[in-house]
Amino acid sequence: METLNKDYFEDFETELTVFSPGRINLIGEHTDYNDGFVLPTAIDKKISLSFKKNNTAETCNIYSKNFDAFLQFQLSKIEPSTTEWENYILGVIHEFQKRNAPITGFDCVIHSELPIGAGISSSAALECGTAIGVNSLFNLQFSSEDLITFSRDAEHNFVGTKCGVMDQFAVVMSEKDHLLLLDCKTLAYELIPFNFSPYKLLLINTNISHNLASSEYNKRREECELGVKIIQQNYPEVTSLRDVNLDMLNSLKPDLDETIYRRCKYVISENNRVKQTVKNLKESNLNLVGELMYASHEGLRNSYDVSCPELDFLVDFSKSYELILGARMMGGGFGGCTIHLIHQDFINEYTEIVSAAYQKQFGINATVIEVNPCQGSYIKI
Ligand code: GLA
Repeated sequence: METLNKDYFEDFETELTVFSPGRINLIGEHTDYNDGFVLPTAIDKKISLSFKKNNTAETCNIYSKNFDAFLQFQLSKIEPSTTEWENYILGVIHEFQKRNAPITGFDCVIHSELPIGAGISSSAALECGTAIGVNSLFNLQFSSEDLITFSRDAEHNFVGTKCGVMDQFAVVMSEKDHLLLLDCKTLAYELIPFNFSPYKLLLINTNISHNLASSEYNKRREECELGVKIIQQNYPEVTSLRDVNLDMLNSLKPDLDETIYRRCKYVISENNRVKQTVKNLKESNLNLVGELMYASHEGLRNSYDVSCPELDFLVDFSKSYELILGARMMGGGFGGCTIHLIHQDFINEYTEIVSAAYQKQFGINATVIEVNPCQGSYIKI
């Protein structure tokens, strides 16, 4: 096969296109891999992936418009790559192959409007878009839940981040104007209406992505698992932090390393905050929702240690403005975005104020992104 170039993708006759969105999370951070609760949704910014079969037995050709980069691989020789974006695709194909799915050669052109490293899961959007596209192109009949699992496992096995299921679930299952209250243990979910005009959700991207993110992420997961092991010695019925309450944890404080105690305390408190947030949303108590967002950030900053000065600055800065009800860092941490619950009439003015202040403090431009809860991935033929 000749070396891939743009000419190959000229006159691309698409058989199907998958639109796969990014996601936000109102509250419930680092709870998913602890069998806990999260409150994410997909947003109106997405990746598009156009697919067609290419009539070869096993040659696949991918073009990423954003990177202006090509990936060619043989289905019989799939292994992890040193180029990160390639692993999101290769990892998903590998999961299909583990189930002996009958895939043959295909071509795919990818275009993304999602910033990378912003904590809005461009990676899950790419994984799920690949999974949904390949499933449909070859009529494989896997369920949405299967495709979510393949996408999550691709991240574990090919990328190396031992993530939970929140991102992939939100990317696939979200509905317009709703948040998704997901029980990450059972995968049962409830759609929570979210349309609180004049209040809107605003992201502010620090445009910082500290490279500790992946190693520290896996470390947090291990710390939580260690906490569970110790708790189980006194409470054998406990299988995850989801089964633990603060009284139980406090009764064991002398047995727990101080760091492990703080990690567990944060996760237990955050699960409670998700439930309280849903209750307050149902009662339209947006002020209380905002307070819970600030409390979530406090926990992520001081107990879970996954924030950074840029995120803290953006959250602290918003506290002086009454027209902002709440703010917190969003996603894995160590950079990426903050999410703000803000009055829509204040968005333009605040964008100017906060951009100038952030630039002055760090010498970096922040990017402000207005987001609306949207439907999850869909296919257009
Ligand atoms: C990343 C992971 C998710 C979740 C969040 C933190 O986005 O991919 O599974 O753990 O961090 O809430």
